Amino acid sequence: MGRRWLLTGCSSGLGHALASAAARAGDELAVTARKTADLEGLAAAWPGRILPVPLELRDAASCEEAVRRATDRLGGIDILVNNAGIGLFGAVEEVSDVELRDQLETLVVGPWRLTRLVLPLMRAQGHGHVVNISSVVGRIAFPGLGAYVAGKHALEGMSQALAIEAAPHNIRVTVVEPGMFATRYGTSMTEARRRIPVYDVTNREMLDGARGLAENPETGRPEDFAERVLDIIAAEGPTPLRIPVGDDAYGYLDLAEQASREEFAAARILTQGPPPPPPPV
Ligand SMILES: NC(=O)c1ccc[n+]([C@@H]2O[C@H](COP(=O)([O-])OP(=O)(O)OC[C@H]3O[C@@H](n4cnc5c(N)ncnc54)[C@H](OP(=O)(O)O)[C@@H]3O)[C@@H](O)[C@H]2O)c1
Repeated sequence: MGRRWLLTGCSSGLGHALASAAARAGDELAVTARKTADLEGLAAAWPGRILPVPLELRDAASCEEAVRRATDRLGGIDILVNNAGIGLFGAVEEVSDVELRDQLETLVVGPWRLTRLVLPLMRAQGHGHVVNISSVVGRIAFPGLGAYVAGKHALEGMSQALAIEAAPHNIRVTVVEPGMFATRYGTSMTEARRRIPVYDVTNREMLDGARGLAENPETGRPEDFAERVLDIIAAEGPTPLRIPVGDDAYGYLDLAEQASREEFAAARILTQGPPPPPPPV
């Protein structure tokens, strides 16, 4: 029997590719975008398997209505994928309170709210899988992306707590950390209204890189991302909570792991003093 999904952010990019791949595999999906007209192509390509649902993550009533429509039509939700997201570019000093709240509403509050709405259904069914699409910046940081980095770190922290709480209820939690994939993410990214030119030195390259993401020959294909996520969902037995996807993601996070060990060792020396000499042999 096909699995039943609620998958957010399907008008383009990774969500669109994942929706197509899952429908091709025989699953039924409620897929979301802010305008359902942007989902017509998907629905037409997979008649009967794709239910377009309007969703604005920053609106509680919209989240409730989306979960209601999905469950009415599908009869339950086996897999919730919190994929929808948008970036905000700006130095920490440039980002206003309003802009920060807006970014966190989309990246943290909305997915949290959807998860809270879906968990009772999954507990009643006795199974479920919550997949949160984070980023390598859920573990590391890049300049100019402080608000986006904060949002993805928060999503990962929430997921770690949820994984412990959900496990006794046979609900699996996975955080997927994509590297760079060719989507409109870079062009959709908004910019903080306040500009302080001194930050161009550290941040400009990041903005230019994001804007050129879809044309960068080194970025991955959304279709490949989708296949990896289907593999993750299909995997039997215990799987890692946090799963990078893409060669560049493993490269960044490998370096970050080493740097983290070095930072930890340096901090220990700073606060605890140098380690005792090894015992004589
Ligand atoms: N592409 C990459 O290299 C990359 C790397 C790491 C992580 N990611 C993450 O992957 C996820 C998908 O991004 P993408 O690359 O596929 O970008 P994308 O092509 O821009 O797709 C983003 C999707 O999110 C939806 N969305 C944005 N804001 C929303 C809101 N407030 N409420 C509801 N839906 C909203 C958009 O729908 P609308 O049509 O309604 O705008 C769109 O369907 C994001 O969480 C992103 O942070 C991407």
